[in-house]
Amino acid sequence: MAKYLINPNGPLHGEVEVSGSKNAVLPIMAAALLTEGTCEILDVPVLLDVDVMCRLLRSIGSEIKEFYDHNTIEITTKTIAQEEAPNELVKKMRASILVMGPLLARTGRARIALPGGCAIGTRPIDLHLKGLKALGARIETEEGFVVASAARLYGSNIYLDSPSVGATENIMMAAALAKGMTILENAAEEPEIVDLANFLNKMGARIKGAGTDTIKIEGVKQLKGTRHSVIPDRIETGTFMLAAAITRGDICIKNVVPDHVKPVTAKLKECGVHIEDAGDGMLVDARGKALVATDLKTLPYPGFPTDIQSQFMAFLTTVQGPSLVIENVFENRYMHVNALNRMGAHIKIEGKAAMIEGGRTLRGTEVFATDLRAGAALVLAGLAAKGATEISEIFHIERGYSDFIEKLRKVGANIVRIEEL
Ligand code: EPZ
Repeated sequence: MAKYLINPNGPLHGEVEVSGSKNAVLPIMAAALLTEGTCEILDVPVLLDVDVMCRLLRSIGSEIKEFYDHNTIEITTKTIAQEEAPNELVKKMRASILVMGPLLARTGRARIALPGGCAIGTRPIDLHLKGLKALGARIETEEGFVVASAARLYGSNIYLDSPSVGATENIMMAAALAKGMTILENAAEEPEIVDLANFLNKMGARIKGAGTDTIKIEGVKQLKGTRHSVIPDRIETGTFMLAAAITRGDICIKNVVPDHVKPVTAKLKECGVHIEDAGDGMLVDARGKALVATDLKTLPYPGFPTDIQSQFMAFLTTVQGPSLVIENVFENRYMHVNALNRMGAHIKIEGKAAMIEGGRTLRGTEVFATDLRAGAALVLAGLAAKGATEISEIFHIERGYSDFIEKLRKVGANIVRIEEL
C-alpha cells in the first residue's frame, strides 16, 4: 500500500491551478447515458473516481474515449447492454447510484446495488427513491439491490425532505425525459447542480431554477450529445486555501470561481487571513498575520461546505483561541479528530459539536486516512507539524484530488509518495 511522507518545509508559497470538479463531472458522466449521441466532456480531473465511473458506464454499454492529455473524455452510448450498477462498483464509489435516474429514463429499468454506509455515515438513498417513485417508477428491493422500473415517467411535484445533492441530480436527470412538467422543491443548490443542469440543457433539456431551491424540469422526447467543460473544483480550491492558511504561507490559486468558495473565504477572513481576487484566481495570504479562532457550522450550499470541515478544523487547531465546529450534514464526519489529537491537537467531540482548544503545535506521527476529506485534513496537518508525518490508506485521498502532491510540491511542500512493499 502507498503512503505519503511529509516533512515540515515552512510556509507554502507560489501558484497552483485547480482541476475540474469531481462532484460535477461524476453526475455529468452519468447524464451522458440519456442520449445515443456523443458527449464530449472537457476539463475532466484525472481521478480514481472518474476511472470507476468510466468502468461503470462501459459495463452499461457506453463507448468511452479518454484523452487525459487534454483532460477530455468522449462518451457514446448507442445501446444499453445492462441496466445495472454492480455491487463491486457501488461499494467503491457511492456516486455510482447516479446512473439510476438516467437508466430509468432511457430504458425504463435500473438495478442498482444498495450503497452501504461509508466512513462518514449511513448515507441512505430514500430521497432518490421517493423522487423516482413520484415520477411513476415502481421501486422494489431484491437481495441487496434496488430495482426501479417504469414503462413511462411522468412529471410530478416533488418536495425533498432535505436538500440532498445526489437525490436532486438523480431526479433532475430522470425528469428530463419524463412526460410533462416536474417541479422539484427544497432542491440542493450546489454549483455542481447548476453545472449538471447546464449540461442537460445543452443536450436539449428544459430545466430552469438550478441553483435555487425550486427547479422546474419540462420533460422532452429526446436528448442529443453535446460538448461541455466542467466547472473548477471548489473543494480542491478550499483545500489549497487552507494549505496556505495552516502553513502561514501565501498561494495564488488559479482556475477558481470565487463565488463558489464564498463561505470559506468569509470564514478565513474572520480568522485574519488576507484574501483577494487575482485575475482568474485568488490570492490567499496568511504570512505574518495574527490569526484568531472562529466558530463554524456546516450547511447545504450556500452554507459552509461539509467537504471542507475537516481541513478547516486542522487549521483551527493551530490558531490561538477556542473554536466550536458543528457538522450538520453528515452524522459521522469527525473521523479525522482522533488522528489530529494524536498529532497534538486538543479536540473534544460532543454529538454534532467539536470543541477545539487551538494554539497547539502539531507534531508529526503515523496516521491513516479514513475518507477523502479527512485524509486531506491530515495532509494539511502534516504540512504544519513539527517532525515527519506518515499517512497510509492514501487511496481515499487520491480518489478525489488530481495530482495532489505534485501541486503541493510546486508550492514548496516536502511530501513524497512511498510504495510500501
Ligand atoms: C454529495 O454527496 C457529494 N458527493 C459529497 O461529497 C458531499 O459531501 C455531499 O453531496 C454534501 O454536499 C458527490 O457529489 C459525488 P447528500 P451526496 O445526498 O449526494 C442524507 C466528497 O468528499 N441523505 O446531499 O451523497 C445523507 O445521509 C463527497 O467529495 C438522506 O438522508 O450527499 C447525508 O447525511 C463526500 N437520504 C445528507 O443527506 C438520501 O436519499 C447529505 O447527503 C440522500 C441523502
